[in-house]
Amino acid sequence: MSQPWSPGSWRSRPIQQQPRYADEAAVERALARVKGLPPLVAPGEIDALRQQLARAARGEAFVLHGGDCAERFVDCAPEPIEAKLKILLQMSLVLTWGARIPVVRVGRLAGQYAKPRSSDTEVVGGVTLPSYRGDHVNGIEPTAAAREPDPERLVAAYFHSAATLNYARALLDGGFADLHKPHHWNLGFVRSATHRAEYEALVARILDALAFVELAGVRSAAFETVDLYSSHEGLLLAYEEAQTTERDGRYYNTGAHMLWIGERTRELDHAHVEYFRGVENPVGVKLGPTAAPDDVLRLLDVLAPDDAPGRVTLITRLGAGRVDAALPPLVEAVRASGRTVVWSCDPMHGNTTKTADGTKTREVDRVLAELRDTLAVHDRLGTTLGGVHFELTGEDVTECVGGPQELGEADLARRYDTTCDPRLNYAQSLEMAFLLARRLQARRAGAAEPPLR
Ligand code: PEP
Ligand code: CO
Repeated sequence: MSQPWSPGSWRSRPIQQQPRYADEAAVERALARVKGLPPLVAPGEIDALRQQLARAARGEAFVLHGGDCAERFVDCAPEPIEAKLKILLQMSLVLTWGARIPVVRVGRLAGQYAKPRSSDTEVVGGVTLPSYRGDHVNGIEPTAAAREPDPERLVAAYFHSAATLNYARALLDGGFADLHKPHHWNLGFVRSATHRAEYEALVARILDALAFVELAGVRSAAFETVDLYSSHEGLLLAYEEAQTTERDGRYYNTGAHMLWIGERTRELDHAHVEYFRGVENPVGVKLGPTAAPDDVLRLLDVLAPDDAPGRVTLITRLGAGRVDAALPPLVEAVRASGRTVVWSCDPMHGNTTKTADGTKTREVDRVLAELRDTLAVHDRLGTTLGGVHFELTGEDVTECVGGPQELGEADLARRYDTTCDPRLNYAQSLEMAFLLARRLQARRAGAAEPPLR
């Protein structure tokens, strides 16, 4: 595409999934306020993440991308942020140790407040209301007043993102991830004795290795902290535009390190692709089972005309049972084009089901099946799965069925907290990391493929 780009050039394109506000002047005032506030992340950090993702594209690192489906403003509080950080750190430790590969941590946090919806309205208690579109847009309460898009939420989203990111950075700077402090790595409420034992053995071996390395005179800040990058779906383009800053002739979205384009907004000539082609940030693109290989190649032409590794992550979310048919044509087309992308697997969004009473859930076994089949396809085709993308939480919620606690549908009501999609809880997430680590370890050793279960 040779037309000139500007942070607002998306405005002349068709656009999906945007709220309709009653008071446009109030929206403009809110956006002007956001535009005047300081960046949440630095361009140098964004460049650093691109370098990390370039390594993942070459198979030299593995991306762990995870967090809430929809962050809520009320979760901008110490415990939920600590829990989220902790599960991401613990999973990355398991993956690093098991797979002997550096793990790039990207949180769905500090800005994941806007949601695409399949319908503009929903029926709650017999009343038809506008759909909840995330705290960035409207309130979850089932009243017409709460569901009215509120421009003030554009400003509130910035401040909640800032407070979340600030606390995450403070925790990491303050030693939250210090490998010398094993209590930071304890198993919380994992009930499975096997998993607890396996994890404790792993921590003991790491501390042993650390003691040896330091005895040998090696001191590294790398043992004391880790990098964590922020990300969210770049859905509300007016907000994203307000977060866009020019630096030495290049444009950065300084609201998050990484952003992704959702399955519902990746149309080639539409607004979202137009916006993202002009910013330096690494960009993810979700690919559902209907993604056509040609469309994906054209998306890459637009988003990464120079094929810079690390620029685009293709996140497949096909659904268990669909991977064998849908993934090979995509992988083969990209490979044949000679392009370098990070292949990531989101085994959540193709596996959402509803219980008889209408509760959204996901079966851990189907999540695992999609992951297993995706790994197998990449192995068969000689490409590399460079990362995974999960909806998860560090808390002991009951939203997905199965896993080490063997949650059933009857358990869902016990602690169903998500305002959007069901997330893996702490124990389910950690189990996922163990299984994945074992699988990646075997890949590294060139061993026969072990089952994921
Ligand atoms: C999401 O990641 O929460 C999401 C809505 O995903 P997708 O665009 O893949 O449906
Ligand atoms: Co979701």
